Amino acid sequence: MAFVKFTIDGKECISDEENYLVEAARENGVYIPTLCNYPGIRPRGSCRICTVTIGAGTFTACTTRVAEGLEVRCATEELEDFRRKMIEILLAEGNHFCPTCEKSGNCELQALAYRYRVTVPSFPYMFPKREVEAWHPKLLKDHNRCILCKRCIRGIRNAEGKVIFAFAKRGERIAINIDPETSKDISDDLAQEAMDLCPVGAMIHKRKGFDTPIGRRRYDREPIGSELEA
Ligand code: SF4
Ligand code: FES
Repeated sequence: MAFVKFTIDGKECISDEENYLVEAARENGVYIPTLCNYPGIRPRGSCRICTVTIGAGTFTACTTRVAEGLEVRCATEELEDFRRKMIEILLAEGNHFCPTCEKSGNCELQALAYRYRVTVPSFPYMFPKREVEAWHPKLLKDHNRCILCKRCIRGIRNAEGKVIFAFAKRGERIAINIDPETSKDISDDLAQEAMDLCPVGAMIHKRKGFDTPIGRRRYDREPIGSELEA
């Protein structure tokens, strides 16, 4: 293990050189917003919410390792505006019905929208026609809310270590598919894990809901990122 020193928006930080910027920032009390990233799962850098600048270049903080002397810029007006726009695009591109969503209050996209004070997206709503898939005994897949972050593909395995989610179709019809074979005997715990891993309400564990009332859920109680910004 070797430690390196770097700065984020001028704040001096120190971290193991093996760490990615997102984790290293967190260790040093700095919040870098993320969406497709999840602790313990290999990062893919697909949502771009964590974009930072180093020198003249832009980088995704979830896939960039720290290095000695890095001068990282994260909370500039330009980058914050970029993140707000990305969140607006995601909201306008899908059908996000927050008031009827079991993930409301635990949803990272909703929490980020609150953080960035997104009320009405500045892009036109696309109102795509998407399905709600309810054939699986333990999982309900709502394609309206899926942001294609691949966390479920990357992070969920059945008892034999096989993947149960994969992309199906292409282009604008691309969607997450539940494999009927590898998912057929999944436990309730794994179904719950898939739901918890999904940053939005696209993956719902069936026959279990509203244990915690809306208003008392994670981001109802503490805005996203606030644990590092108190
Ligand atoms: S179902 Fe959830 S975790 Fe899977 S790709 Fe869609 S948004 Fe991401
Ligand atoms: S969190 Fe880094 S690209 Fe999505």
